[in-house]
Amino acid sequence: MERTTTVISQVQVDRQLDYCDKIAAITAQWPERPLAFVDTYGCQQNEADSERIRGYLEKMGFGFTGDEEQARIIVINTCAIREHAEQRVFGNVGALVHVKRRHPEQLICLCGCMMQEPHVAEKIRQSYRHVDLVFGPHALWKFPEMIHTLLTQRGRIFSNADEAGSIAEGIPVVRQDSVKAWVSIMYGCNNFCAYCIVPYVRGRERSRQPEDILAEVEQLVAEGYKDITLLGQNVNSYGKDLEEPCDFADLLERVNAIPGEFLIRFMTSHPKDATHKLFETMARCEKVAPVLHLPVQAGNDRVLKVMNRRHTREQYLEKIRDLKSLIPGIVLTSDIIVGFPGETTEEFEDTLSLLEEVRYDALFTFIFSPRVGTPAAKMDDPMSHQEKLANFNRLVALQDSISEEKHAAYIGKTVRCLIDGLSDDARYDLTARTPGNRLVRVVGPKEALGQFRDVKITDANKWSLFGELM
Ligand code: SAH
Ligand code: SF4
Ligand code: F3S
Repeated sequence: MERTTTVISQVQVDRQLDYCDKIAAITAQWPERPLAFVDTYGCQQNEADSERIRGYLEKMGFGFTGDEEQARIIVINTCAIREHAEQRVFGNVGALVHVKRRHPEQLICLCGCMMQEPHVAEKIRQSYRHVDLVFGPHALWKFPEMIHTLLTQRGRIFSNADEAGSIAEGIPVVRQDSVKAWVSIMYGCNNFCAYCIVPYVRGRERSRQPEDILAEVEQLVAEGYKDITLLGQNVNSYGKDLEEPCDFADLLERVNAIPGEFLIRFMTSHPKDATHKLFETMARCEKVAPVLHLPVQAGNDRVLKVMNRRHTREQYLEKIRDLKSLIPGIVLTSDIIVGFPGETTEEFEDTLSLLEEVRYDALFTFIFSPRVGTPAAKMDDPMSHQEKLANFNRLVALQDSISEEKHAAYIGKTVRCLIDGLSDDARYDLTARTPGNRLVRVVGPKEALGQFRDVKITDANKWSLFGELM
């Protein structure tokens, strides 16, 4: 495949780090250490991007706050996947008008997928005049330069030109968690599923060099991270654009060979590119968690075809059978869209029967939301929202009963779990994850945080498991 990716050179990234130094010299003159507020919507890719924005901000001399009133810089990293996500952003950005009136020196920055949509950027330009900086995912690497311009000159900046996309190595990162870490292995998507905005806002698929990924994982393991998720919109097509052949299964194998006690997860996988080689590699690599998120979206062949998913129901089920035979007990999860334009209730029922066949451990379910510029937004959509909602509720009820049954089967078992956080439910002290990533609320001492420990499962419901440390 032709490589259209722009590789941002080390010299260019170093220039951005120089801008960080220049800004740090400015902020050092201010009476107090300035604070930044970073809010993130959307998927793990956006979480990973926000960690790089925080990395840059820290280098510029900023601390962090969860309170907009305290912040000298506000960054909102947005998501465009469904209308609901966009409306929340518009609501919150609108409300910042009042905050900025109290703190006129504040810089308000909007970034992420929504800002890459021309009509959104235009709306911000016209109607949200308190916003100082708008940039899309392609421009993230030059964040310091843009902030420097805003601090030294007047005016607003819009940096959201459409492009195939770039790769920049060496951007500093401030991670949000000390046990789990995200590692982007590739960016963008080439699949153009008919409903999806991602390829338009994130550009074409481009893979990081395996050496860069391995070095990052080694560093994380050395820092004590125990749960590492390799990220991409479709990790199964990793490496197709690399000169030296290394596909995703090869990459998993190489990450697995890094010494240390840690788990490897990855997301997301596209069914059309999930191969027997991948399943076989997952089965063989002891650090690769026994879980696969394999979004199916719909169970009916006609709907799958109009969605441009490029696989059939039977091809999907065949892959699931192959995987289950290689890894008995594999935890399976999926994404489903209900109410795709033209989907009849009869066709929707094929999704229900697919659920019965696969028996997922958990599902992420969505009602179709038309996105400007995607083919599905122009398709005839005769079904009423009420009818879609009724189907949606049937789907959720079926999955709830399957999840409940699957979770109940854990009761009485002892499972080696990673203790990954503190529980927000007062009856439990800790949260943990099974190797298959099921949530467990655990009674036990806080010192266990960050450790792999045996947990006896004592109870379960449709959402999670409950247990005690052994
Ligand atoms: N790259 C991932 C998914 C990215 S978006 C993949 O291919 O699986 C996450 C999920 O959001 C999708 O799997 C899909 O189920 C849902 N989604 C995407 N666009 C949507 C839309 N326009 N309306 C409703 N749900 C959507
Ligand atoms: Fe969207 Fe499809 Fe790409 Fe996933 S594979 S990001 S659903 S276009
Ligand atoms: Fe949203 Fe962009 Fe992720 S649209 S789901 S934040 S890739």
